[in-house]
Amino acid sequence: MTSINSNSNSSSPLEQRQPRRLLVTGGAGFIGANFVQHWAETHPDDRIVVLDALTYAGNRSNLQSLENHANLRFVQGDICDRAAVETLLQAEEIDIIAHFAAESHVDRSILGPGAFIQTNVVGTFTLLESARHLWQNRSDVRFLHVSTDEVYGSLGPDDPAFTETTPYAPNSPYSASKAGSDHLVRAYYHTYGLPTLITNCSNNYGPYHFPEKLIPLMCINILLGKPLPVYGDGQNVRDWLYVRDHCRALDRVIHAGSPGQTYNVGGNNEVKNIDLVHIICELMDELAPSLPVRPAKDLITFVKDRPGHDRRYAIDASKIETALGWTPSVTLEEGLRQTIVWYLKHSNWWQPLLSEAYQDYYQKVYAHS
Ligand code: NAD
Ligand code: TYD
Repeated sequence: MTSINSNSNSSSPLEQRQPRRLLVTGGAGFIGANFVQHWAETHPDDRIVVLDALTYAGNRSNLQSLENHANLRFVQGDICDRAAVETLLQAEEIDIIAHFAAESHVDRSILGPGAFIQTNVVGTFTLLESARHLWQNRSDVRFLHVSTDEVYGSLGPDDPAFTETTPYAPNSPYSASKAGSDHLVRAYYHTYGLPTLITNCSNNYGPYHFPEKLIPLMCINILLGKPLPVYGDGQNVRDWLYVRDHCRALDRVIHAGSPGQTYNVGGNNEVKNIDLVHIICELMDELAPSLPVRPAKDLITFVKDRPGHDRRYAIDASKIETALGWTPSVTLEEGLRQTIVWYLKHSNWWQPLLSEAYQDYYQKVYAHS
């Protein structure tokens, strides 16, 4: 068994060797696709291989803008399939794994936790085993595990923000499965010396966000003149991060982060849900040429709360700021404006996602409101 100290180079940042060869799991999902676009723009000579099972949340068209990018390959496959993962890692000589693939929606984890354990825990384990087997003590490789602030649980109104040493206290099947995967990643560094990096970030928003999540759901329902379902009293707080800022942070972590370390990534944008919904309504009133109901805020409807609904998340991002020089660049107002304009221009992207299966899901979550 390799101890972390026997692999002395693994504590130093990645050398600037180019070009790199990345495997991006979940690269057809929301953050993964934004990350692939970021990487292709900023490191055009690097090889990018996307491995994605194309679940309901995965969408090939999220990568359409890169159709002619010579160094991008898309592979449809499951991260739980060890043979397929190892074949790909070997054939493509992958030296960076950026692991985004997950079941990611809390409400779905309440309806059916099994898929979350399978992909988030077993899938991460499978990737770790494959990397351990093929990378054998190499220090010029990286395994980036993209995780969430939800593993830290819920804050009271006056609690300090989550730091990297805040104890884990997950409250939903989603956050519990992500916590389990974080612990496995940590263990593979400490036990086997695998050069891992973990990031725990706050709520992302931006283009290609699947319609089930708060911000796109509100934008789309306003355009359709449907009620805007706000859970409970609407006083829950989230810390919103523009997705492209998150991608820049992940780039910094891959290139300059120290293996074995965790970095929290947040937007410094704590907002109560009800206040956020009001801001979205006002921006939609201003930006949408025509709306079925105006002002849009007339659609706001308080509905039955989500079971186990965490009250507040807030990220202390001072470690990544100090250690790696990353700060968010987009204000919430700017980011929301850009996001809303994107949804207004891309109804051809989101309309097909409101499928029969999506309507069934919507019924199940909101029927008893
Ligand atoms: P998403 O649900 O939009 O995308 C997930 C992607 O993973 C999809 O393309 C899906 O097809 C793919 N996938 C699912 N199961 C798979 C499997 N078994 N094998 C291969 N591919 C599979 O998720 P997202 O919002 O882009 O989140 C990406 C990562 O970031 C997740 O790990 C999530 O936990 C984490 N995260 C997300 C947020 C957020 O606000 N969205 C915040 C913090 C952390
Ligand atoms: P969501 O986008 O599901 O992200 P997460 O649960 O991972 O934070 O939800 C963000 C917040 O918005 C959360 O407090 C739940 C709330 N919410 C609603 O009030 N109504 C909704 O229809 C949805 C989807 C979320």
